[in-house]
Amino acid sequence: MPQFPYRDAALRKGVSVAGKRQLGLFGENVKRLKTESVEDGALIKALNSSTACVSWSDDDRQWVRKRVLHTQRPALLAEILGWLLSVELDVPVPDGAVTGEGEDLSWLSEVLPYAQHWMPARYKYVQNLDDLGRMLALDAIIFNPDRHERNILVTTSSSDLELRVWSIDLGESLLGQPRRLAAAGLTLPELEVVPEQLPLPLIRDGATAAAGAAELITKSLLKSFVDEACHIVGERRSEELLGALWHRTRHAQRLVAEYLRKLETAQ
Ligand SMILES: Nc1ncnc2c1ncn2[C@@H]1O[C@H](COP(=O)(O)OP(=O)(O)OP(=O)(O)O)[C@@H](O)[C@H]1O
Ligand SMILES: [Mg+2]
Repeated sequence: MPQFPYRDAALRKGVSVAGKRQLGLFGENVKRLKTESVEDGALIKALNSSTACVSWSDDDRQWVRKRVLHTQRPALLAEILGWLLSVELDVPVPDGAVTGEGEDLSWLSEVLPYAQHWMPARYKYVQNLDDLGRMLALDAIIFNPDRHERNILVTTSSSDLELRVWSIDLGESLLGQPRRLAAAGLTLPELEVVPEQLPLPLIRDGATAAAGAAELITKSLLKSFVDEACHIVGERRSEELLGALWHRTRHAQRLVAEYLRKLETAQ
């Protein structure tokens, strides 16, 4: 688990996370932090990652920063659009923002202090298993093949017996690759990395609710999300991306039901 040297300060201050916020149609929904207001700290030593670093913004908030220079544009696009969809579908995500210009353009995910990675043995203590279902439903809809244990964060509140799960790292989802998302049609990602022993019966309601919500997203709202994310990263194929994503959201119930079946078979 990476260590965040200054996280006590973040704890004192209280990390602000995305609760139910209203996303607008005329979106500047993603905060932009001024380049000069963000200062880099240490690199994060994660298993596969050597390129994310910790950063501080001048309002004393701590972020995990991923630069386009390292992650490439598709990953940044996927993070931004994935975050907008997460908020819309009530998938619990740390607060997000962008900063920097050119190759320093970066996605920022606000650090959840003392977060740990998913531990199957402790699922009994998770208070928001519905949200885990929402997270997996989102994965099915956006073709995210990367929901391994380190991309599900777990935080404690007052007691170690009260855990909450959070979704991070949508960079590998096909939201960042319009052509591949279109080519995927209504197919689902393989389950090579999904954690074992997911409590599937307990997450089904949340997954179904998120699928229902996805089918209700209007095209104009989806377009505003796609346009905003594409604009930030300079992606021109927004129409193709919108078409592919719209198609998948229209069939979200079916995609999610199939994904849950796949998960059941794989467990
Ligand atoms: N908002 C956050 N709060 C706390 N820890 C975080 C946050 N975002 C990321 N991390 C930590 O940093 C690690 C790497 O972040 P992330 O998964 O987003 O990057 P990555 O480069 O795609 O990593 P990997 O290749 O290992 O999947 C996470 O596994 C987690 O331990
Ligand atoms: Mg990751």
